[in-house]
Amino acid sequence: MATGTESAPTTQGAAELSALAQRHLWMHFTRMGAYDEAHQVPIITRGEGCWVWDASGKKYFDGLSALFCVNAGHGRTEIGDAMAAQVRELGFFTNWSYAHPKSIELAAKIASLAPADLNRVFFTSGGSEAVESALKLARQYHKLTGNPLKVKHIARDTAYHGTSLGALSATGITSLRQPFEPLAPGGFHVPNTNTYHLPDDPNRDPLWAANAIEERIIFEGPETVSAVILEPVQNAGGCFTPPEGYWQRVREICDKYDVLLISDEVICSWGRLGEWFGAIKYDYVPDLITTAKGITSSYAPMGAVIARDKIFEPFSEGHASFTHGITFGGHPVAAAAALANIEVFEREDLCGNVRAHEAEFEQMLLSLRDIPIVGDVRGAGYFRAIELVKDQGTKGSFTDAESEDLLRGFLSGALYDAGLICRADDRGDPVIQLSPPLIATSEDFAFIESVLRDVLTRAAARLG
Ligand SMILES: Cc1ncc(COP(=O)(O)O)c(C=O)c1O
Repeated sequence: MATGTESAPTTQGAAELSALAQRHLWMHFTRMGAYDEAHQVPIITRGEGCWVWDASGKKYFDGLSALFCVNAGHGRTEIGDAMAAQVRELGFFTNWSYAHPKSIELAAKIASLAPADLNRVFFTSGGSEAVESALKLARQYHKLTGNPLKVKHIARDTAYHGTSLGALSATGITSLRQPFEPLAPGGFHVPNTNTYHLPDDPNRDPLWAANAIEERIIFEGPETVSAVILEPVQNAGGCFTPPEGYWQRVREICDKYDVLLISDEVICSWGRLGEWFGAIKYDYVPDLITTAKGITSSYAPMGAVIARDKIFEPFSEGHASFTHGITFGGHPVAAAAALANIEVFEREDLCGNVRAHEAEFEQMLLSLRDIPIVGDVRGAGYFRAIELVKDQGTKGSFTDAESEDLLRGFLSGALYDAGLICRADDRGDPVIQLSPPLIATSEDFAFIESVLRDVLTRAAARLG
């Protein structure tokens, strides 16, 4: 692992690259108008372990694993070597009507790691495609099994399930949906499991949020509902964990109404919560798991839908097929990356590292509660959020304008300047999110704490 704080600047100067980016690169979910000569595009050029370097040679702790996805950490040359070896053997062949050894090997490996009888793997190029594929698979499954009216899916408020039009109908974030309406029909939403702002009520059923799913299914008409799609821990809004028994109750409800349960684990699989899959951590068996990101630790783009045997069954007979496909699904080079990535996980017991250190990570974040704007601290494994509040006592939140000023006007820039990449987000109440590579340990937490303590203290002082 590199030790210095500086790295040689890129041959093309940072300013020159920034100017080119501003002229030609269309960055995702990015206010391109925020960049000019005085405000340069952040350009990351190199990574090693938990650290990355920008084009001017400055070093940062990657507290977000890029985008919740470089789970094994940066600079894993063995993954690159496996990809290069695959390119030499077979650079590409498709999984439409053909197979190749690497996608077969990877599917079998994933089946061996997935819970229960989730034995069948359909590969995609990323998370949105995995969600899109799962929603389509659920509909076709119901058509094949004599329930053609089952076409609706239920997701949760503020949840992010991707951006393609189908996946977007599951995404529950108004600002991401509105610019593209009308959306693909069929998406309905129920409350998530955030209880931080609810009044204390000893009489509230702890499974109220799970029961809201049943109420919605009944309201829509069970004969019209195809699937429920939920993340083990909901990312958007800031790492909402499930209350005890939530998933078991949701499973019960889905079984009762013949609705497929999709566990969207684009973030929550591959060790993020300390297990191969979030469903293992919370002990439930979904019908479908959607995954991506950490499957290759993002050394190559890849996603997958993993299905239970009973879901595959109607597709295995006669002339039936899942009439859906994506050119790059199961790409041999991405599959080679995934297999090499899983080898790293096994060799270094990365899931075990998360389980061994998650309590320490949580304690460190909780220790920041002496800063007046640090409200709720929540999450699981190496997937944590701090909700920022105006007042810890009342849990009072910020107005939209205050939140904009706090997050974009100060925190994002100050954290980055201080050498910490994390997410300051307000797709819900304002939160700071952390999701470090799974190799992070005590000294990394100490660095995160030092930056957060300094920057959040300054943010609190700034608010007066
Ligand atoms: C839960 C979940 N589902 C789907 C997606 C979409 O994945 P992608 O960006 O790879 O399309 C994401 C992305 O962050 C996600 O977190």
